[in-house]
Amino acid sequence: MSLLDEARKVRERAWVPYSRFKVGAAIRADSGAVYAGCNVENVAYPQGTCAEAGAIAAMIAGGDTRIAEVVVVADSTNPTPPCGGCRQKLREFAGPDVTVTMATIDGAMLTMTMDQLLPGAFGVDHMDRA
Ligand code: THU
Repeated sequence: MSLLDEARKVRERAWVPYSRFKVGAAIRADSGAVYAGCNVENVAYPQGTCAEAGAIAAMIAGGDTRIAEVVVVADSTNPTPPCGGCRQKLREFAGPDVTVTMATIDGAMLTMTMDQLLPGAFGVDHMDRA
């Protein structure tokens, strides 16, 4: 199954009683393994998690630590970019040239690199303790 189809499939399982905005994310790790996640909302709103965060957690639980490619699917009119927090979360495990493809359920697609999504990212090189 393609990364896009994985993201579409997991999107159907999103738990979104508050926003009704389902998002699916699929990550292909450097190993070739694919990990997927959907957004999971909570009645205590700030406790909700984004689809990208779920996919990252699945990747780490699965034993991978480097991202090769990301696809995010949402039912927005225009391709939905990862929120600011998710850009930082993805950048932890993805180099500047890794692509993030944003797709709508209607098939519109936009592909950007991590560096385009998060230029000048904060990283371990900014900390003298690393
Ligand atoms: N959301 C994601 O899962 N990923 C994004 O990149 C953007 C936003 C979710 C969070 C929340 O459940 C819903 O979309 C509306 O913000």
